[in-house]
Amino acid sequence: SIVSVVRGTGSALPAKVMRNRDFEGVVETSDEWIRQRTGIEQRHIAGEGETTVSLAEAAARKALEAAGLEPVDIDLIVLATATPDNTFPASAVQLQDRLGIASGFAFDVHAVCSGFLYALTTADMYLKNGQARRALVVGAETFSRILDWQDRSTCVLFGDGAGAVVLEAVAAAEANGEGILVSKLRSDGAHKDKLYVDGGPSTTGTVGHLRMQGREVFKHAVGMITDVIEACFAAAKIGPADIDWFVPHQANRRIIDASAKKLGIDMEKVVVTVDRHGNTSAASIPLALDTAVRDGRIGKGDLVLLEAMGGGFTWGAVLVRW
Ligand code: ACO
Repeated sequence: SIVSVVRGTGSALPAKVMRNRDFEGVVETSDEWIRQRTGIEQRHIAGEGETTVSLAEAAARKALEAAGLEPVDIDLIVLATATPDNTFPASAVQLQDRLGIASGFAFDVHAVCSGFLYALTTADMYLKNGQARRALVVGAETFSRILDWQDRSTCVLFGDGAGAVVLEAVAAAEANGEGILVSKLRSDGAHKDKLYVDGGPSTTGTVGHLRMQGREVFKHAVGMITDVIEACFAAAKIGPADIDWFVPHQANRRIIDASAKKLGIDMEKVVVTVDRHGNTSAASIPLALDTAVRDGRIGKGDLVLLEAMGGGFTWGAVLVRW
């Protein structure tokens, strides 16, 4: 049998930083409100010429470099985004072209904030069944372009960025226990109106803006997150004490803290970047992963738990031995 082993990570953020105080005078809010309710202090905002695909390319090149691979070594790209450069073609094929890859195949997956875990799980399946050997899995977003900048209840929460990982198919007997061990994905469209974009090609013919019932999302988040993680623990026959690092989707510090507490995961094992990145949707997990790999926290042999929840609702958890 085959397992998908992580070979490298990379990430990219727009140059422009927007601090909480920069919202004061734009909408009725304050640095103190945003910090207390969300833990966010700043976020990066894409400038002119920076797009989902350009950020994805920068993150992908760093991940390839970390893996010691060239673009031509990649035969699968799965890119998670809810903010593609164009309705079509997929941002994944635009990335494929920028990297000069003319073989293999590339496509986008769309599961909003859970997108990276859906993409990772999808790539894992293709590697396991032998349809690809080395995959680039990317989460890339420019949510700043779909925000209603007059709506204080949403515009302060999100940021732009991209993260990428390189996966390689390895025979299980040679993998030393490394690789993607368990993946659990869930969705429930009954919650589709709690977090959505009010436009689209087939309805309004416009891109639309993000709309969210924040309190409703919050109400469901912790229960859904902890349920799917417990399913992961049961499948792997492990418990919270076995986890070396918990890398949750970075939406809100209070959701992260409450989830870790309910699961019994020590806060020292939790990777938090929401303070600096805001909520970057599908990019948040690979951005946080790359941060913790590059600062030396996540290293070989570590058991890493990933978790996400977002629009749909979609949610999921993945266990990876580094
Ligand atoms: N500044 C100041 N006041 C604000 C702001 C703001 N930026 N935004 C809202 N308020 C006000 C509201 O208008 C409300 O005022 P009112 O009582 O006079 O009506 C008051 O603050 C309280 O609003 P609530 O929405 O009840 O505040 P809450 O404590 O729930 O915090 C928040 C709001 C931060 C959005 C919270 O509900 C939350 O984090 N929800 C989860 C959202 C989330 O994480 N979404 C993403 C997950 S899925 C994904 O990542 C796509």
